[in-house]
Amino acid sequence: MASAPREHWSSRTGFVLAAIGSAVGLGNMWRFSYLAAENGGAAFVVLYLTITLAVGIPVLLAELVIGRGSQQSPIRALAHFGGRAWKPLGGVFVAAGFLILSYYSVIAGWTVRYALIALGEGFGQDVAEHFSEVAVGWDAFGYHVAFMAITVFVVAGGIRGGIERTALVLMPTLFAIVVGLALYAATLQGAGPGYAYYLSVDLEKLLHWSVLKDAAGQAFFSLSLGMGAMLTFASYLKRDEHLPNSSLVIGFADVAVAFVAGLVVFPLIFALGLEERIVGSKLGTVGALFITLPQAFAEMGAIGRGVGSLFFVALVVGALTSAISLLEVVVSSAIDGLGWPRRRAALVAGGAITLLGAPSAWNTDVLGLVDQIANNFFLLGGGLGLALFVGWIMRDPIAEAAGGTEGIGWFPLWRWLLRLAVPAFLIFVLAYAVPETWEAARNLFADLLGRSA
Ligand code: PFF
Repeated sequence: MASAPREHWSSRTGFVLAAIGSAVGLGNMWRFSYLAAENGGAAFVVLYLTITLAVGIPVLLAELVIGRGSQQSPIRALAHFGGRAWKPLGGVFVAAGFLILSYYSVIAGWTVRYALIALGEGFGQDVAEHFSEVAVGWDAFGYHVAFMAITVFVVAGGIRGGIERTALVLMPTLFAIVVGLALYAATLQGAGPGYAYYLSVDLEKLLHWSVLKDAAGQAFFSLSLGMGAMLTFASYLKRDEHLPNSSLVIGFADVAVAFVAGLVVFPLIFALGLEERIVGSKLGTVGALFITLPQAFAEMGAIGRGVGSLFFVALVVGALTSAISLLEVVVSSAIDGLGWPRRRAALVAGGAITLLGAPSAWNTDVLGLVDQIANNFFLLGGGLGLALFVGWIMRDPIAEAAGGTEGIGWFPLWRWLLRLAVPAFLIFVLAYAVPETWEAARNLFADLLGRSA
């Protein structure tokens, strides 16, 4: 099915920014800061950094190597290097793309709504209190549809005209906003306890298995790993790209934005005396973002309008560039595998994902469960598959990785990490995460059935 020649990024910066755009998203601003605060502060940040370096970056490089080497979307890429038996793993990636985007876009819809409120009339006290109303039902579904429409529009525009162009404009904007907000937050009186809450070292909290699982799941989610998103983006690279450098830059940028986002959220909340809303509450990140922060913005008066607008615009931007990469996994597979034109693939896949998101738009418990299944099962499992694939199946991954690179320095270490350390770590984490997810699913179903009975 040889159709039009494969598109390529117009520049290395274009690729790297698009990949950072995939990585930096709701995970950085919606999840990371809260996880860190709950799980031992700076100690968690160090654990997270270690996992990102020792597990995340090697898997990221594995995805880039498969993508660039095969110049194909995930299912075909795995078959290219491993034979037909590996096609199902690619199928799992595409399924993960469907699943994750279906609820990711619902949350993104909330951020669009909040950005519009912030830019328009500004937050009143009541907005925050009504979060539970805006988070579910037709309203939530409507914003989800709107967000998906924008995502489809960009992806339909192609690699250069749509995805790269969007990333080149939006990513620098996002960096500037997040850094600007962190600097502003530092000037607030009473910010100190916020930093202390976020970064205080609490080793005791770190000593639970579930923390390891949270850190691993977060590293995979945040770096967009384990479902072929980075693989797909790398399949539009020309052969002479220096992949190890790219993977380090992408990983560093992702961790940096997550860290700096925490330097925005906590000082703001503490400076306005709203900490009792999050400390020890079960509102989770969603609470911090969609309930406590608007309240903070409302109380800050005129400045709050500006700061609130910038904050939620940054969230929308992060969500959009991530959603683009999720949709691209499905779309590129439909283009390569079914021979569909890009526009049709984007429309059909986008439409199907929009419908699949309906249960999440009507029930936040369902949304939470799908999020857990996606992370604990699809991404960690997909990461395990990728590590084994490149570590043991691919014939000469080192030569493949070294294309366009002088010297092979730490490639043998990389391969041994993928062969042994990364799989061992992921199997360990999965052994903990899968039963927990299963339990959560059973509870939710029992609850839903009980309610309807
Ligand atoms: N990395 C994105 C975030 O942190 O919000 C989420 C994501 C995007 C996960 C793309 C997986 C993916 F393939």
